[in-house]
Amino acid sequence: MENTEKIKEEALNKLATIKTERELADFKTAVLGRSGTITMLMKGLKDVPPEDRPRVGKEINDVRVAVTEACDGLEKKLHRQAIEHALISDAIDVTIDKPVRSVGAVHPLNQVRKRLTDYFVGNGYIVYDSPEIETDYYNFQALNIPLDHPARDMQDTFFIEDGILLRSQTSSGQVRLMEKVKPPLKMICPGRVFRNDDDSTHSPVFHQMEGLVVDKNVTLCDLKGALEGFAKFIFGDQTKIRFRPSYFPFTEPSVEVDVSCFKCGGKGCRVCKNTGWIEILGAGMVNRKVLENCGIDPDEYQGFAFGLGLDRITMIQCGIDDIKMLWENDVRFLRMFR
Ligand code: PHE
Repeated sequence: MENTEKIKEEALNKLATIKTERELADFKTAVLGRSGTITMLMKGLKDVPPEDRPRVGKEINDVRVAVTEACDGLEKKLHRQAIEHALISDAIDVTIDKPVRSVGAVHPLNQVRKRLTDYFVGNGYIVYDSPEIETDYYNFQALNIPLDHPARDMQDTFFIEDGILLRSQTSSGQVRLMEKVKPPLKMICPGRVFRNDDDSTHSPVFHQMEGLVVDKNVTLCDLKGALEGFAKFIFGDQTKIRFRPSYFPFTEPSVEVDVSCFKCGGKGCRVCKNTGWIEILGAGMVNRKVLENCGIDPDEYQGFAFGLGLDRITMIQCGIDDIKMLWENDVRFLRMFR
């Protein structure tokens, strides 16, 4: 009797200290296993006098049942704890801080270039890429600006060496295309141009988009229609355009083109400097001499050309008055036009 009580007490005390499923399994083997202490007690029953056997047998069995139940309870508890532990330690913390990766955006200048390109391509123009480093011939002479002609002063050109320069206008692309492709032709030539000019509205590197249409019976009206469509597309359907007489050596007649102010509708505001109009490009009918220089008969073909400043249109659209903002790469500025 004493023995069974002691074994029960020891077993339950020991159970109370067990912390893992592994320890519990060892304990069960040591106590309830084939040669475990309680099993051995059962086996010793045969040495108990026959009249005591039922009583002692019941005591031993009670101990076995109590310890087994305690083991089962603990087993369940430890198993649950093990699962909880695994859930916690395996979990991925989806709230963890990580470096912020910011989303990029198309630069406002490129947005404008792309939009204009889409418009003209949609109207049948091809996109022509012309070199940034150019010869004097393509940038000037073929465009009816001979050496020593005062019209060269209209553009303060960067010369690289004698006869080689950074193109000061995309008009050079007109000549290069007309030399290669016979009319009818419709092209735009967007790209970087360079002039020794530097203030809040001028940058030594800026962007133009040239337009050229050459065909039979092309008139100034065609130019006006083409530019009106373009102006409405960019600045809205209510936009009007006006031509002012101007001078470019490579067009005759030449015009400067204004659009009615998209902001005030022509009443006068800060954007249009109270004039109601915004100047956006230069244009004209391709000068006969330029057509001749490119081997095109001006009595058979006529053309119109225009050149617009992409930076200027971008500035108007973004509402900024310093061209440097387009170059500073200040992400706070760029983000505004994402
Ligand atoms: N190339 C001229 C400039 O840069 C613009 C222009 C292009 C004018 C085509 C007429 C025709 O000022």
